[in-house]
Amino acid sequence: MTSKIWGGRFSDAADAVLDAINVSIDFDQRLWTQDIEASKAHVAMLAAQGVVTHADAERITNGLAQIEDEIRSGVFVFSRGLEDIHMNVESRLAEIVGPVAGRLHTARSRNDQVATDFRLYIRDFVDQLDAALLDLQRALAERALAEAATVMPGFTHLQSAQPVTFGHHLLAYVEMIARDRGRFHDARERLNESPLGAAALAGTSFPIDREMTAKALRFARPTANSIDSVSDRDFVLETLSAASICAMHLSRFAEEIVLWTTPQFGFVGLSDKFTTGSSIMPQKRNPDAAELVRGKTGRIFGALQALLVVMKGLPLAYSKDMQEDKEGAFDALDSLALCVAAVAGMTRDMTVDRNAMRAAAGAGYATATDLADWLVRAAGLPFREAHHVTGRLVALAAARGVGLEALALEDLTAVDPRITPEVFEVLGVDKSVESRTSYGGAAPKNVREQAQAWLQRLA
Ligand code: ARG
Repeated sequence: MTSKIWGGRFSDAADAVLDAINVSIDFDQRLWTQDIEASKAHVAMLAAQGVVTHADAERITNGLAQIEDEIRSGVFVFSRGLEDIHMNVESRLAEIVGPVAGRLHTARSRNDQVATDFRLYIRDFVDQLDAALLDLQRALAERALAEAATVMPGFTHLQSAQPVTFGHHLLAYVEMIARDRGRFHDARERLNESPLGAAALAGTSFPIDREMTAKALRFARPTANSIDSVSDRDFVLETLSAASICAMHLSRFAEEIVLWTTPQFGFVGLSDKFTTGSSIMPQKRNPDAAELVRGKTGRIFGALQALLVVMKGLPLAYSKDMQEDKEGAFDALDSLALCVAAVAGMTRDMTVDRNAMRAAAGAGYATATDLADWLVRAAGLPFREAHHVTGRLVALAAARGVGLEALALEDLTAVDPRITPEVFEVLGVDKSVESRTSYGGAAPKNVREQAQAWLQRLA
């Protein structure tokens, strides 16, 4: 018999390489709160069902509480020889309460234990992230309200398209994050079932009460199939997929911050709090936080991909491959939490150069659509013809190196005699955005309403 917890049928010690590849305590120790909470729920249920005596259950519970204190205060020594968090806790429990510790693992396996711990961990993470995402939405909506009438260029293909308002642009991210929150919420709903009591894979012959442990751990219900309970890692995959989409959204905003803070754009500035310098170029102000929000998507998407690959070929039920579910997920979720905080920080920190945005908004013939729309509305042209006439006027202005509003009325009527002096009213960027009052449009009035509605909802 070896010293391992499972050493009964073993006579030789494990090879050092096996120990090295098998050990997970370095990363799964962060499941300690969940592990102890689940063990407490399990032993209370075993006592209620008469599987262990109340006296034994009490000694085990007190021992677990002591371990909790030891870990919290930093005196607990995690042992790599004990492989993972479950065996570290159980082995220490045996030191504290003696052989009675062995009764805790009745009607339980590490397979349902780790599935339970990890679900609890992900559920906690999702709840904390939701609060952080809400805070980010609030930061964005507050800025949107303040910049409801700030005209900026709207882009398609990153070419000047039509003037929009900065507030409207920011509210686009509020909508994206609302959907992100919805995806995490959906994932939480589905993961909120208790695998505890599925044991190794087949359930148990002991008269356990899975409803009781599910309730104690604030799960909606126990999982219905013991094999699925220990085989399933959808809950991690779903969370990582929601995390990936969310990180992608944050990355797009981060990319815009990188672009907008260049001297060439100069739309926004970041204070020293969110800027780094260069060791060689004294003038440099680098948006490192934004770049890293963009860069962290690599590891977040990677964690999703890695776990999909780990899972795809596994026959039911548990295989040790599944231990590979944790490091990537922890890293991805930690990274995402950091990104959300960084984006909220930059959103609150940034200064807006309204003049630079306005000047850029008029560049690139961004009001050409307004001119074409005017030809339809005031001169009765079909839109396709109006598009063509406007194109000729843009070409004329471009040939002269001026904006549309700088063309003389005679220039305009020479291209199409139906044009009247009223056309000049639609060529300015303010008029352009003010006219975008269709539901969901960029007009300052719309933005004010929507930003206010969001702030109320987020309060
Ligand atoms: N450390 C393991 C994991 O994370 C716990 C489950 C081990 N189960 C087993 N049958 N060896 O997956």
